[in-house]
Amino acid sequence: MKKYNVAIVGATGAVGSEMLRCVLEFNFPYESIKLLASARSAGKTISQNGIDFVVEELTADSFEGIDVAFWSAGGSISEKYMDAAVKAGCVNIDNSSHFRMDPNVPLVVPEVNSEALRDHKGIIANPNCTTIMMCSAVNRIEEVFGIEKITVSTYQAVSGAGVAAMDELYAQSRDVLDGKEPIAKVLPSGGDKKHYPIAFNCIPQVDVFNLENGYSKEEMKMVNETKKIFGKDIKVNATCVRVPVLRGHSESIHIQTKKPLDMPLVFEVLANSTGVHLYDDLANQIYPMPTAFIGDEMVHVGRVRQDLFSDHGLNMWAVSDQLMKGAAYNSIDIGLKMIEMGIL
Ligand code: A2P
Repeated sequence: MKKYNVAIVGATGAVGSEMLRCVLEFNFPYESIKLLASARSAGKTISQNGIDFVVEELTADSFEGIDVAFWSAGGSISEKYMDAAVKAGCVNIDNSSHFRMDPNVPLVVPEVNSEALRDHKGIIANPNCTTIMMCSAVNRIEEVFGIEKITVSTYQAVSGAGVAAMDELYAQSRDVLDGKEPIAKVLPSGGDKKHYPIAFNCIPQVDVFNLENGYSKEEMKMVNETKKIFGKDIKVNATCVRVPVLRGHSESIHIQTKKPLDMPLVFEVLANSTGVHLYDDLANQIYPMPTAFIGDEMVHVGRVRQDLFSDHGLNMWAVSDQLMKGAAYNSIDIGLKMIEMGIL
């Protein structure tokens, strides 16, 4: 079997470090692994699965001899260095939002639209975390019943806004318990005018707002990326909310189907969906929660029930570690899928 020279761009970050773990634990066939980050981290040693890696500074020359690079250093870094990587002949799987809506760049959730990978021109985009988990959860429902519209509310963990947001949740929680006023400096992400405490609170803002239509950028990612991934006009109404959870996003998903539902078939379809774990046993109070699935690569679905007022309406609750299926694991899985398809 061919082995690949792999690079991870943004390897010191929250997603980058999970990418390294996924390359090692999901047996990506590597010959070498190069960890890239800013000059600040150059020379730093990262230990993973008993192996020590030395971080190198990212430059335009970093991609000579690299076969595949997994990127998670933010959109501006992808924009700045991607050309050099493509010119060096490297295949790039990018977790930033920079290329996602570019018509020349496939946007892929492997179990949903892996065929799109065949059209790549050196760059493949990894969708937004909330979009990946929703598309994976509803994929087989779309295949069997057809989806007209999805109404989704998200319950997003603070780690989606980086390490600083996690630190803020810890510090604010301590302050509130000590009877002090919590200090907010980081959340909401996109809050350029105001910040609000996340401890013991919910913030209905993830990223900046589009003042013309009232939706946040995160909500519009769910709308636009879902259409691109399915290649169909699936309508999405999203409300994205930050909640005081450290890691793992949840979503309350309402699906309006084209064909009438057959609930035993719905359960059968979900139980056999690739990437989905049906975890739903009400009699025993079994349903997914974020703390139960930290570090796990699946999308966990429960509370599956028919709309009380329509046989075309389905409600479900989905939970996934957004750093894994929503980012790192999906990227590595794209690479593994390309190997399986003989296109890497
Ligand atoms: P560094 O740790 O050296 O700053 P996160 O999204 O968790 O904050 O991680 C961002 C990742 O992107 C980190 O690995 C960070 O490296 C990396 N990064 C940030 N700025 C640059 C840059 N100018 N060049 C290369 N990597 C960068």
